[in-house]
Amino acid sequence: MKPIRLLPLAATALLLMQSACRVDGEAPAAPPAATASPDAARELVARGEYLVRTTGCNDCHTVGYAEQQGEVDTSQWLTGSPLGYKGPWGTTYAPNLRLKLVDMDEAQWLDYSAALRTRPIMPDFSLRAMSQADRRAIFHFIKSLGPGGAPAPAYLPPGQDPPPPYFELVVPAAASAAIGTP
Ligand code: HEC
Repeated sequence: MKPIRLLPLAATALLLMQSACRVDGEAPAAPPAATASPDAARELVARGEYLVRTTGCNDCHTVGYAEQQGEVDTSQWLTGSPLGYKGPWGTTYAPNLRLKLVDMDEAQWLDYSAALRTRPIMPDFSLRAMSQADRRAIFHFIKSLGPGGAPAPAYLPPGQDPPPPYFELVVPAAASAAIGTP
């Protein structure tokens, strides 16, 4: 009999929990960073810095980062690079992300980064696969750096020779077709 007598109690408890959840659900979502506590805002920026440092963004978007084993002051980070990446897609340059984000707010960045399609050598698939929380942290870190540096060189279509320095990727014809462009 015991389990049967317990059942209504369990059901009541469940109902209470559900209504508690509903009340929670009606509460406003997490406040935007501007109104978050200074500690929370600092943590978000620190998380963004950690992600940028460990997921490789600087390898391409920061001049001399790999050559200096990552010992580049954050004030220089993500200002883009004149190192070209030449392949069947033409020649691409890692753009200045600090200038890119000047006119973007958080919501725009979240939409943009979730759907980003670029030419190689940018691992756009990695950014798309990142959680919204991580992409949000990256946004706030880049914003915290402020605008800086100059625009990177413009993309060159296939058939044009870039000035040095550039990497050239030589691929078999089949792979070349597979790489394609977005
Ligand atoms: C292997 C080199 C490489 C790495 C690593 C890399 N990028 Fe890029 N990124 C590029 C290149 C090159 C382009 C330009 C692609 C093009 O011209 O279509 C680019 C383009 C972008 C763009 C589009 C900018 C625009 O103006 O259209 C964004 C945003 C971006 N990268 C963010 C990131 C972030 C964030 C990371 C780290 C998670 C990262 N990238 C890592 C090379 C890289």
